[in-house]
Amino acid sequence: MTRATTLTVLGIESSCDDTAAAVVRFDGAGAQIASNVVWGQTGLHAAFGGIVPEIAARAHAERLDLCIEAALTQAELTLDGIDGIAVTAGPGLIGGLLAGVMCAKGLAAARGMPLVGVNHLAGHALTPRLTDNLAYPYLLLLVSGGHCQFLIVHADSRFERLGGTIDDAPGEAFDKAAKLIGLPQPGGPAVEACARAGDPTRFALPRPLLDRAGCDMSFSGLKTALLRARDQVVADHGGLRMRDQADLAASFQAAMCDVLAAKAARALALYRDLSPQRPAFAVAGGVAANGPIRAALAALSAHAKTDFIAPPLQLCTDNAAMIAFAGALRLAQGQDDGMTLSARPRWPLDERAPAMLGSGRKGAKA
Ligand code: KG4
Ligand code: ZN
Repeated sequence: MTRATTLTVLGIESSCDDTAAAVVRFDGAGAQIASNVVWGQTGLHAAFGGIVPEIAARAHAERLDLCIEAALTQAELTLDGIDGIAVTAGPGLIGGLLAGVMCAKGLAAARGMPLVGVNHLAGHALTPRLTDNLAYPYLLLLVSGGHCQFLIVHADSRFERLGGTIDDAPGEAFDKAAKLIGLPQPGGPAVEACARAGDPTRFALPRPLLDRAGCDMSFSGLKTALLRARDQVVADHGGLRMRDQADLAASFQAAMCDVLAAKAARALALYRDLSPQRPAFAVAGGVAANGPIRAALAALSAHAKTDFIAPPLQLCTDNAAMIAFAGALRLAQGQDDGMTLSARPRWPLDERAPAMLGSGRKGAKA
């Protein structure tokens, strides 16, 4: 196929609980988002207290074609205007990944278009290139409901993991914390709002792994400590008063904030050792919406004379524009995974880094 100067790429994302499709135009230097459609499934899973993989997979299979149609319509295009397809091939829940990969293969085969499988984490990691054309190498903290890792992004396909969570992801911890203190889901925004009226010093919750060198983090002990503090309040007062709820939320958020900031300071120091010309620290993931966490990371960056980049929230959380963009970088080089593409539920971005423990809400964490 003769490659156009500007590539128009259809992106497809279905690795967790968002069915998403987007169209991105890439001219080799910069990219433009022509459409970005995300259909969340929160309502479908609400009654179960977490994502049910089977329900997620069925919903993706039922909605993907409609979602793609919506993305094409918003971009004022038909499939005739698409030069290639990029689909999330991993990591994530196998059912959702298969739904996306099969749908993408069907379209690519029917239209004779090139097809590339994209690593979902690469999509997040390359978002600051899409939004701000950030120069390599930059430091990225991916902090969401399913992921938590510090990466140095060296090039389109070279990522160095400095560390990450060894158990829960921060968003997952916020969601569990909200459940423990009687707040609604998603827990992050609820805990943040409730914490505004609270005293962050009332409960002395742990700051896990700060005594261990490096950038690895752990959040499951923090959740257990919150459970104990809550049980103590209930035993003392016969229940949780609004003030207790606010103090618990504030104490929990302060601990999360301290851990992320302390580990970010270490990651920044490692990154700064590379002497990048224009040092930059970017965040991605739903937890990056948290005001105090964002403020702490911005302050750290300012102190380290490093630009702080937080892309708009709709591009920080799961979306297909990031997948289309990451795919466009490969399609522009003439790459095509074709019909041999398969889903990889576990797919670490940095294949050389040691495997991380545990598996988060989105399946494999790293
Ligand atoms: O990136 P995201 O949409 O993808 C998933 O991991 O699905 O992140 C969602 C996560 C949820 O766990 C949510 O509680 C958390 O991000 N979150 C927040 C805030 N807003 C969303 N956590 C803390 N503070 C917030 N303001
Ligand atoms: Zn994600």
